[in-house]
Formats: sequence, structure tokens, C-alpha cells
Amino acid sequence: MNLEITPPRALRGSTTVPGDKSISHRAAMLGALAEGETLIENFLMGADCLATIKCLAEMGVSFTGPDEKGRLTVHGRGPSALKEPGDVLDAGNSGTTMRLLLGILAGLPFFSVITGDASLRRRPMKRVTAPLSRMGARIWGRREASLAPLAVQGGALEGCSFSLPVASAQVKSALLLAGLLARGETRVVEPVPSRDHTERMLQFFGAEVFKEGTAVTIKGGQVLTGRRIVVPGDISSAAFLMVAAAVVPGSDVTIRGVGLNPTRDGIVDVLKAMGADLEITNRYRLANEPVGDIRVRHSRLRGVTVGGDMIPRLIDEIPVLAVAGALAEGELVVRDAAELKVKESNRIDTVVQELRKFGVEAEALPDGLRVRGGRPLTGASCASHGDHRIAMAMAVAGLAARSKTVIQDAGCIDVSFPGFTGILGSLRVE
Ligand code: S3P
Repeated sequence: MNLEITPPRALRGSTTVPGDKSISHRAAMLGALAEGETLIENFLMGADCLATIKCLAEMGVSFTGPDEKGRLTVHGRGPSALKEPGDVLDAGNSGTTMRLLLGILAGLPFFSVITGDASLRRRPMKRVTAPLSRMGARIWGRREASLAPLAVQGGALEGCSFSLPVASAQVKSALLLAGLLARGETRVVEPVPSRDHTERMLQFFGAEVFKEGTAVTIKGGQVLTGRRIVVPGDISSAAFLMVAAAVVPGSDVTIRGVGLNPTRDGIVDVLKAMGADLEITNRYRLANEPVGDIRVRHSRLRGVTVGGDMIPRLIDEIPVLAVAGALAEGELVVRDAAELKVKESNRIDTVVQELRKFGVEAEALPDGLRVRGGRPLTGASCASHGDHRIAMAMAVAGLAARSKTVIQDAGCIDVSFPGFTGILGSLRVE
């Protein structure tokens, strides 16, 4: 499917975005491990989270829904009710599905095989399989269990202490889930804090999780109790609309009910530092997560340099941040973000390659990128590289370009933001 974008006169209005992807995955998984019913509202019906449900269903978990309103009930019967899947589990395009499920599979006394699409089968898994093996799981895969498909013989794990070389919420979460199913204590220390949805949700389900700086400790064998969870809007999806409103002249857009977890809201701080007219109102909490409404009005932006601890707080927003940089005065520089190379695509290369098609001066750095802004963008014919966030970032560039833009193979947008085109359409002023 190709997506055509013509520049609107402005973007105006108020909208919501679909539920948070990270929180939706965790709600389904913790609901499956819990005793009793978990009612999830605003569950993200994107391909990634649907893959998680399908894998859990293969392990005998029973679900009602999701219905068209995103209501999903998980009929949890505790970890011992999970059974050996009779077929290969398919995580599709979803790194979160594969890595977090590996943590659960490692802790359960049966054999399983998990695979994914061509992109996921290229992504590094050793970062999860090595520590899980240390806990006692046996895991096989190409290049010493670096690449999916992966086969797991789980069960009888022993809690361990880990110091992670890279900040990764997926790795941390896999180890905490395995730790929940292990004997004794599991402790994970990160170099820089990554998103903490797993820790928050484990606590919400009644488990004790101890946080101390960048260390998290969990005791095995704790019982989770089913809960009602309303999933906040995904700030990573809202980011496309935030940048679009900031760069399209005359725009004024409010996105209601967006998750504002401090480990995820780096895009708010960086857009403000770039001079965005951005305001947060109506703050409240949903399922142990902070939420609020974000209003963005068009303004002149200037380039900034981002790196260090900020990177995990906006890692998924860097493609669209690069688009903001292309439309800002001066230079946007992103450093310390080599992790971008191992996302759904090599996002350093794909962002640079696609932005250049709009006439933007962009350069790949070993651990980030540099974008020179201030020149008008010409409409372009772009490739998504099968990466949902590249497709949407280039759609935002298209909104601010002078002529029509076409994004080829844009069906991947459904991975995280079903309804993206409809929402953009509802905000357009022609
Ligand atoms: C995610 C963690 C991040 C992020 C990904 C979702 C999660 O990846 O990029 O989209 O839900 O835990 P890393 O764990 O590789 O940092």
C-alpha cells in the first residue's frame, strides 16, 4: 500500500492516539501470568501487540476480545497454567514480543520455538539469550543463539545479578519476567535508565519490585493478581502529530490522554528546547502511569544536540525528531544512539537516506546523525524499508514539503499506529 501526502494549509483540532505499544504488550503478558481476570481497555490493536496475544493463546491463555473499542479480557490462571505451544510462535515484526516472551518461556518447564519476520530474524537476541542461559534456560539458535528462530527449553531458573552493557527495556523486562518465575532474587542494573513500564505494571499487579538508582530487584515466585488496566495513548505515536503540528504553519493540535512516563517523554523536552510551542495540561494517572493532554502550536524551531541519558527517553522518536531538525534553523545532532542500527530497520541509514530525497542535507554518524535544517523540503517518493516509524516520519516530512510525497509500502504503519492516516485527515485544514 502506498500513502500519498499533500501539504495541508494547517493541522488543527483535538484527537487521541491508540494505546501505548509497550504497555499493551506488558498488560497482555502480565495478565496471562496473573491469577484472575485482567480487563485491558484501549489495548493497541496494532500488528505487534496482536502477535503477542496470538503467541500467548498458543500457550493456552484464554482471551475475550479485543473488541472494536480495544477492550481485551485475559483469563489468567497463573504461570503453571501455561502450556507447551504445539507450533512455532510467531512474533512477526515485534522485538518486544520476542524478547519479553523469551523471558517467560525461559521460566516455564517446556520446549518452545519462537521466530519472526525477516527484519526481526536479523535483530540481536544474544543480549537476552545469554543472561537467560545464565539463569539456567537452554536456548538454541543461529550464531550461538544470537538470531531467531530460537528454541527454548525452560524451567528451574535461578535468580541472578546482571549488569547490562546497553540500556534496553526489552532485555531488562525479559530478565525481570524470568526473575518472577525463578528461585531467589534477580537484580538488573542498567548503564542508563530505560523505560520502566514493566516495573510499574508488576507493582500494579501486586508484586514487590525494588528500584534503587538504575538497579531493579525482583523476588521469584510472587503471585500476580488480575487487574483492570486502561492503557494510556502512545507518546511514540503522538510524537508524529506533535512534530507535524510544530512544523506545519498555522497548526494547533491537542492530543488527549497521552502517556507521559518520565522514561518516555524525552521528545517533549527536546521539542521544547528546539523552541516548540508545547503545553501539557490535564495531568492524571492510569494504571500507575502518568498521563496528560499535549497541545502543540506551530512555531519556529532551532536545531539542538541530543545524546547521553536523553537517548533512551526518546529512542523511538528519533526518526521524527530528524524531520523536525530538517525544518529547524541550524543543525540537529543526535549522538550516543548506535542502538538505532538494530531497530526494525537501521534507522540511522534509513532516516538519512529518505530525508535526502526531500533535498535535506543529512549525514550518518557512527552513533547517530546530523541534519542541517532551514531549507524548504520538496515532496519526495520515499521507501518505508518495512519500518513503521520511518513511514510515519516521512509522512510528517511530506506534510511540510512543497509538493506531493508518496510513501511506498506504508502498510507497516499498522504495526504501531492503526488509523494514522484517518487521524491526519481529521486534523487537516485544506
Ligand atoms: C521497548 C523498548 C525499546 C523500544 C521498543 C519498545 C519496550 O527497545 O525501542 O520500541 O517495549 O520495552 P530496547 O529495549 O531495545 O531499548
